[in-house]
Amino acid sequence: MLQKMDHLKESKIQKIGVFTSGGDAPGMNACVRAVVRTAIYYGKEPYGIYRGYEGMIEGDINPLGVRSVSGIINQGGTILKSARSSRFMTEEGRKEAFEQLQKHGIEAVVAIGGDGTFKGAHALYEEYGIPIIGVPGTIDNDLAGCDYTLGYDTATNTVLHSIDAIRDTAQSHNRLFFIEVMGRNSGFIALRTAIAGGAEAAVIPEDEMTVEDLIGVLESGSHSNKTSSLVIVAEGKESGNSFELARKVRQSFSYYDTRVTVLGHVQRGGSPTCFDRILASRLGLLAVEAILEGKKDVMVGMIHRHVAYTPFEEAVRSRNEIDPELIRVSKILSI
Ligand code: F6P
Repeated sequence: MLQKMDHLKESKIQKIGVFTSGGDAPGMNACVRAVVRTAIYYGKEPYGIYRGYEGMIEGDINPLGVRSVSGIINQGGTILKSARSSRFMTEEGRKEAFEQLQKHGIEAVVAIGGDGTFKGAHALYEEYGIPIIGVPGTIDNDLAGCDYTLGYDTATNTVLHSIDAIRDTAQSHNRLFFIEVMGRNSGFIALRTAIAGGAEAAVIPEDEMTVEDLIGVLESGSHSNKTSSLVIVAEGKESGNSFELARKVRQSFSYYDTRVTVLGHVQRGGSPTCFDRILASRLGLLAVEAILEGKKDVMVGMIHRHVAYTPFEEAVRSRNEIDPELIRVSKILSI
């Protein structure tokens, strides 16, 4: 069984780089570990590229061994560090990055990150032909080509702990809480945690809800003797929008005393869940095997328990879609 793919040892590719980029996500370390150990299993030399594309441009690149990734499977964040690089968005920046890869003899790369990471990876592949395989790593879960991105499960569980804690104080004081969660332009974190946290509503970009609609939901709760309520708000383009929403609701609905909590970056940290560790381990292994099989310019993900390779362009363009069934569940069960 273990030998099934051993012909991949014959691949001419010898040096494989790995980096993490964009917002960090729990499970990135487990994935780096998987990439490093799989590469070594196939007799290849793994290299860590530090601080994402910034480190690639600056040649911040070092060999990694089996033991350099010991004891990290349980750690949030990323030992390779991460960055958002504006320099890499320029042709000049990508040229410098490619020259550094060449200087270190790196022939293929595993990129762990989100949409910005994959836009960059696609550009580097188009311009220089270097094989790059992506692993979806972002708490936002907004990439097409996978059911779950690394970090999403952990982030939703972190949010859920906070929602449960806020519910205690909301009930004690008969208050309405607006809890703002991350996700940039997508409502995955908000919808899932609203259902699991028993919230009255999820305000997400994928399901337009006016202030009047929201007040309607809250009013019907107050008529049926609710004494406190929780509204989970997806941050949208900018963090802090929930304050404005709370202000508008308060103007015409004064049944509750109201508070706002913005959960912020606490959602990005913490030890990855079992689910994220296993997903990270599988995708890291598959990414290296994809390189040795000659794949390039694709992201590897799991869809309905099957491995799927999605071209970077499509993963970024199509985005992951919210399941309308979950919106229905959220609305019916919050009456
Ligand atoms: O993409 C991950 C994410 O955490 C988003 O949910 C959030 O909008 C953004 O990153 C925050 O980015 P930064 O850490 O750069 O402020």
